[in-house]
Amino acid sequence: METTGRRSEEVYDVVGIGFGPSNLSLAIALEEHGASTPQHPVRAHFFERQPAFGWHRNMLLPSTTMQISFLKDLATYRNPLSRYSFVSYLHASGRLVQFVNNQDFFPTRQEFHQYLEWAAADLGDRVTYGTEVTSIRSVAGAGAPASDLLEIEVRGSDGATRTVTARNVVISTGLVPRLPEGVTSDERVWHSSEFLSRFHAQDPQDLKNVVVVGAGQSAAEITRFFHDSLPHAQVSAVVPSYGYAIADDTPFANQVFDPAAVDDHYFGTDRARDAFWRYHRNTNYSVVDSDVIRDLYRRSYDERVRDSTRLHFRNLTRVTDVKRAGDETRVTLRSLLDDRTEELAVDALVFATGYDGLDPARLLGDFDRHFLRDTAGRHQVERDYRLVSGSGLTSGVYLQGGTEHTHGLSSALLSNIAVRSGEIADSIVLRRTERELSRTRPVPAARSAA
Ligand code: FDA
Ligand code: NAP
Repeated sequence: METTGRRSEEVYDVVGIGFGPSNLSLAIALEEHGASTPQHPVRAHFFERQPAFGWHRNMLLPSTTMQISFLKDLATYRNPLSRYSFVSYLHASGRLVQFVNNQDFFPTRQEFHQYLEWAAADLGDRVTYGTEVTSIRSVAGAGAPASDLLEIEVRGSDGATRTVTARNVVISTGLVPRLPEGVTSDERVWHSSEFLSRFHAQDPQDLKNVVVVGAGQSAAEITRFFHDSLPHAQVSAVVPSYGYAIADDTPFANQVFDPAAVDDHYFGTDRARDAFWRYHRNTNYSVVDSDVIRDLYRRSYDERVRDSTRLHFRNLTRVTDVKRAGDETRVTLRSLLDDRTEELAVDALVFATGYDGLDPARLLGDFDRHFLRDTAGRHQVERDYRLVSGSGLTSGVYLQGGTEHTHGLSSALLSNIAVRSGEIADSIVLRRTERELSRTRPVPAARSAA
């Protein structure tokens, strides 16, 4: 076992921060790499702040489906023979035949969640749950330059902190919920990321006027859920566009999520990168799957036929303010049509207003000054997802997420996690081998000046 020398403590080759699908996929890539070199496995450990594995649990709404094919699972694109594939999970669950009969490439989110839990359970000895990483810094070990090792501070569920040492970290802490400026959440005002736990804390009979803000997939799914779950309630959707816009998942556009598109984005010109975003943002952001759009429209039309309307769409409208007075919560809506504002009293106000990308600076703190940024102030990232260091660090800080500006649209999604995790695992192993070779290589004899 390699130790730091300062203390007899293990030095991990890599510590993974967060254990969502991205780092779960990395754990699998490392495990499968280890199977081919059992004499020299990669020493890896992961820390996850949730008490158990969970993937956007608060949005596990009934009947919601995945937005990727089941073949874009944790491993298949990297290793079609992996025992961690979705097909392997179906086989283990005794549902492979029925899944095929169902003829659907897009499982429910419930089923995909079960698949992820099944894979995570198998790798449980590599994860510490209920533990949050609070900071990362560079340290010196005996005989190692200050730039070679990282110290990672972790806080357990009992509040106690400790540090672990690693040569590399992979930050995969996920998306950050976004509320409009000045808005904070409470028991009546929720972000979509906390939806189900907030909803279940209420007596549904108390929810007579509910409002959902936004025109993305989260907003449309929550509007539909409210309409199903609260048959007595008025359900209002605040839609900034003229109507929900469709998520483009047609085959040519879908190529932006192919592994090859990462190279095209990364090595392309600024104009190419700009084109990715200008033409294809509508594959993911502020858009809704067509079946959900049609379902909502049909409900609205049925209500007209029955002359009993409780599903309301306020289009070209944005939320500008939320006021609390005693027990009452009021939301201010501004219509883009005539700039008029209107206030509504609400029993629940759900902001399905999206997310910010992963920002490693939150964890890196002071250590962040070692890493270079581009002219727009964004982190520079190598093709292997490692932050570019300006001060000769040999330890590696890798990102899974937060690389849309360099690696493109799949950065915040599941589409490419199998391949990306394989690339990160390869990079960690290759750099380890290079380090070991440089240690064992004989020092060249000094040449005479003559
Ligand atoms: P993810 O957010 O899943 O995991 C990050 C983990 O890190 C979390 O478990 C968190 O608790 C943990 N963590 C955070 N900070 C920590 C710290 N300091 N210390 C320790 N642990 C920490 N994409 C797609 O391609 N297809 C789809 O169908 C969907 N569906 C979908 C549904 C919903 C409701 C949302 C909000 C998003 C999607 N997405 C998606 C996009 C989504 O980003 C993607 O599915 C994955 O969640 C990305 O996985 P990650 O592991 O990168 O992040
Ligand atoms: P999103 O696509 O970013 O949509 C946010 C919406 O909020 C946009 O319509 C935005 O409008 C609107 N908005 C922001 N501020 C507003 C304001 N003040 N007033 C009114 N509207 C406002 O976020 P999302 O729907 O949460 O989706 C995020 C990711 O999760 C996507 O990748 C999505 O595919 C995924 N997701 C997947 C599933 C699934 O797999 N079933 C379910 C949910 C989410 P503007 O664009 O005009 O600002």
